[in-house]
Amino acid sequence: MAELNLVLLGPPGSGKGTQGERLQQELGLPYYATGDILRAAVREGTELGRAAKGYMDSGDLVPDQLIIDMIVARLGSPEAADGFILDGFPRTTPQAEALGRAIAALGRQLSTAVLIDVSDEEVISRLSGRRTCPQGHVYHVEHNPPEREGVCDIDGETLEIRDDDRADVVRNRVQQYHEKTEPLVAYYEAEGLLGRVDGDQEPGEVFEEIRTLVASP
Ligand code: AP5
Repeated sequence: MAELNLVLLGPPGSGKGTQGERLQQELGLPYYATGDILRAAVREGTELGRAAKGYMDSGDLVPDQLIIDMIVARLGSPEAADGFILDGFPRTTPQAEALGRAIAALGRQLSTAVLIDVSDEEVISRLSGRRTCPQGHVYHVEHNPPEREGVCDIDGETLEIRDDDRADVVRNRVQQYHEKTEPLVAYYEAEGLLGRVDGDQEPGEVFEEIRTLVASP
């Protein structure tokens, strides 16, 4: 298989995590989800976690440099030699520029930035029904319920409601997306790297669209 360096873009709740997990299983590439990495750092009480927690709890973005260092170190690791799937990074123009520099320094290039397009109304409805396990596996009480209520199908852990899925925090996350992350749609379009999928379909249909896109970037 040719090297595949993918970015998943989209508003909070658009399904980046849901699709990222499926892509990881299908492609066997390392999957780097900045939100999951940060939440693990918060749980473990690391320096990064302590620095990030306040921003995450209020739905603001964590400062660029913390995130850039965290991701760039992973891109050059042996496990990412055949490619990677990035979820939640980049999220600002400085992050996109840093990613471009980092992969150019490795003599590689981005394959596709996949935009999962979903309306604000749908985002709010999805996040109010989301349940996650501490390892990051994602469910929805109506659209994607676990086999046993409240329990992760994959690792048997108890499902939780994320702290930042409160309505007021979700509103700020959506606003942050429009202000700081949406400009990356034009950024990647100008580079000829953007692929759009309609995220308002069933998860399986969204996945099929992404597969088609990734197979013919
Ligand atoms: P992060 O964890 O990345 O949150 P997010 O981008 O807001 O995305 P979500 O995880 O909320 O949603 P998702 O798109 O993965 O959707 P999901 O698949 O879960 O970031 C959290 C925080 O960390 C940020 O606010 C920020 O503070 C910080 N951070 C992270 N990265 C950063 C960066 N680069 N720079 C600075 N700060 C950063 O799906 C949502 C729900 O919908 C689920 O219940 C799911 O089952 C359901 N669902 C999924 N697909 C469908 C479908 N097609 N139809 C119906 N339901 C669906």
